[in-house]
Amino acid sequence: MNVALELLLSRRSATTLESPGPTQEELGLLLAAAGSVPDHGQLRPFRFVVVSGEGRGAFGRALAASAQDLNPSLAESKLEGISSKAFRSPTSILVIASPKAGKIEKWEQLATAACAGYSVVLAAHALGIGAVWKSVPFTRGRGLIELLELNPSEELLGWIHLGTSTQDPSVRAPFDVAALTTVIDGDAPRPFRG
Ligand SMILES: Cc1cc2nc3c(=O)[nH]c(=O)nc-3n(C[C@H](O)[C@H](O)[C@H](O)COP(=O)(O)O)c2cc1C
Repeated sequence: MNVALELLLSRRSATTLESPGPTQEELGLLLAAAGSVPDHGQLRPFRFVVVSGEGRGAFGRALAASAQDLNPSLAESKLEGISSKAFRSPTSILVIASPKAGKIEKWEQLATAACAGYSVVLAAHALGIGAVWKSVPFTRGRGLIELLELNPSEELLGWIHLGTSTQDPSVRAPFDVAALTTVIDGDAPRPFRG
């Protein structure tokens, strides 16, 4: 099969990630992959923050502070669990949607930013680096806003854990293309038949 297509069809998220994380050169390639995403007006409506090593402590504290900001009654044990999320891999790339003012719809720009994240995930797969995209429901808390210097129009779309995958991914059910696809090639829509 075509190598690029094989890559697309075989990607799976990693369940556990250990050191080593990506090298500096690999990180550069992962980030460069975002440069080819569909991007109306070439606005580059995204930016990344790379977190690794000691930086995971600051990221973890920002996650816990954000959770507490939005829910002040959270127990200490919960907050510890939240801050430990930063340590689930040696390196993470945080994906920030950064829409620009103008005539391009905000939703289009968010879609571009999501594509940028997926490009990083796919590039990791191409390089044999384990990856999984994670998020939290409290991205608008103060801890994250301050650490990541999020402006009011920006949105943290989660982060991509990167490292050495230590477990084989579970088997995935085949994707039912027909169930999610309609064809319009005449007067009325019809189901897709592969
Ligand atoms: C923006 C975004 C945020 C996600 N956040 C989480 C998360 O917090 N926890 C989680 O278990 N999966 C999360 N996922 C899904 C995983 O990255 C992964 O796709 C899922 O576990 C299925 O595994 P697969 O990619 O091998 O199909 C997120 C995916 C995206 C695109």
